[in-house]
Amino acid sequence: MTVEPVVGRTNGQTHRTAYDEATRARLAADADAIVARYPQERSALLPMLHLVQAEDGYVSPRGIAFCADHLGLTTAEVSAVATFYTQYKRHPNGEYTVGVCTNTLCAVMGGDAIWEHVCDHLGIGHDETTQDGKITLERVECNAACDYAPVVMVNWEFFDNQTPESVADVVDRLRSGEPVAPTRGADSVATFREVSRVLAGFDDGRADEGVGAGEPTIRGTVLARENDWRAPAFPGEEGGGSSRTAARGGGSTHEPKTGGEQSSAERPATTAGDASSAAQEKQQASRDAKEQ
Ligand code: FES
Repeated sequence: MTVEPVVGRTNGQTHRTAYDEATRARLAADADAIVARYPQERSALLPMLHLVQAEDGYVSPRGIAFCADHLGLTTAEVSAVATFYTQYKRHPNGEYTVGVCTNTLCAVMGGDAIWEHVCDHLGIGHDETTQDGKITLERVECNAACDYAPVVMVNWEFFDNQTPESVADVVDRLRSGEPVAPTRGADSVATFREVSRVLAGFDDGRADEGVGAGEPTIRGTVLARENDWRAPAFPGEEGGGSSRTAARGGGSTHEPKTGGEQSSAERPATTAGDASSAAQEKQQASRDAKEQ
């Protein structure tokens, strides 16, 4: 496949002009649905930023203005949040974010070799996008999938036990529009905008597709059951057995109780935040409710 070199980091439009009336009304209806999930409006900012990405393919200037206006924030406050998290893109993202894990375990298992190969193959580097707007490449930190190292993510779907050649094949097929299925999880890879809408909290009905935890992931649990291995008892309690084992009908029933020694709830104030009048009022109200 001929690879066009990337030109700059801002493929596509920059979206500096405001949304047209129809788009703004549609986004406002979605934003209202998001805001309704929270006791405080400003708590809706994170999913609303994903909503903007679903619309524009990144957190655009007009998207920032929309969030600020809808939530009663300043654009500086919205930008401060959007620049903190790497999942929010400040320039137009490709249709597929290909994230190569080069954290320790994946790196030694071949992640570094995958990264070098796919960079050469696409002619782009970290946080850059192919000229056709299809692939944005990222080095990513551990995906909590080390048992399948080396791992590559495409729009946060797992591609386990990869090789440099298998990843080159995946990106080629994505660029040519062929259907691509992750090795685990969903049946296909959704686009960046489609996934962004899900992250904004709008269900696409695909959450239960495929296998989540495969054989390597549950190997420890299986071994523990086969050998009747139990977690140690909590201090001051007899016997052993994890709470999960107990919940499934076996082993100990020792659970940390709210307010108990192993629970962080209702512990004595130890920080300035704990000692604030609001926190103390909340704790007192909880104690009063129990005594009634
Ligand atoms: S180090 Fe790559 S998934 Fe954990």
